[in-house]
Amino acid sequence: MAVRRLSPDQPRDFAFTPENLAWAKETIAKFPEGKEASALIPLLWRAQEQAGGWLSEPALRHVADMLGVAHIRAYEVATFYTMFQLSPVGAKAHVQVCGTTPCMLRGAEALVDVCKRRIAEHPHELSEGGQFSWEEVECLGCCANAPVVQIFKDTYEDLTPEALDRILSALERGTTPQAGSQIGRTTSSPEGALTTLTDPALHDGSRLGAWRARFPELADGSAAAPPAEKPKG
Ligand code: FES
Repeated sequence: MAVRRLSPDQPRDFAFTPENLAWAKETIAKFPEGKEASALIPLLWRAQEQAGGWLSEPALRHVADMLGVAHIRAYEVATFYTMFQLSPVGAKAHVQVCGTTPCMLRGAEALVDVCKRRIAEHPHELSEGGQFSWEEVECLGCCANAPVVQIFKDTYEDLTPEALDRILSALERGTTPQAGSQIGRTTSSPEGALTTLTDPALHDGSRLGAWRARFPELADGSAAAPPAEKPKG
């Protein structure tokens, strides 16, 4: 895992907007007295969203102060969890390319090449104009649809370099590309048609009659209860 440091360029200060402040107070109030620090992650997440996708040092201090904890408590959480960005990200998209084994085997390296060509040579480097950035991340939890990238809250799956190119162009134009499988699969259902469990009788209930006739005592609930387990020892 790479060393995660705060950006050398920091804004002067940070404060929640009135709406986010009200939300933060409500969130803190959900925790028992004395356990308010448990709201640290949701508050950091909201601060990140408010600031355009990254956490500045003033934002970390602001959240820690709200919760009455030492600043280091916020720093250690933000630097540990890679979902928190510690330097500015692209205003239109921060592309997180999954580089874990299933995605790597299915072409993640070619997706990284697209990011290098279209965005910037190095991860966490802003594109010219600051609209895009990228990084490689660990498993995004969509391995069956590898290779995958995540852009803010959406995942784009079953990707090819051409498909990622199209997605970046759409974002550049200001349109929102369709998230999910890029080859039209519903979630992670098989490509084309079902290849296993294809007999509808397996799931349409048509075999229930035969099953009831064969095991009436189970069907009407009159089967003897299994003997109670004897206590051990
Ligand atoms: S390995 Fe890429 S989503 Fe799991």
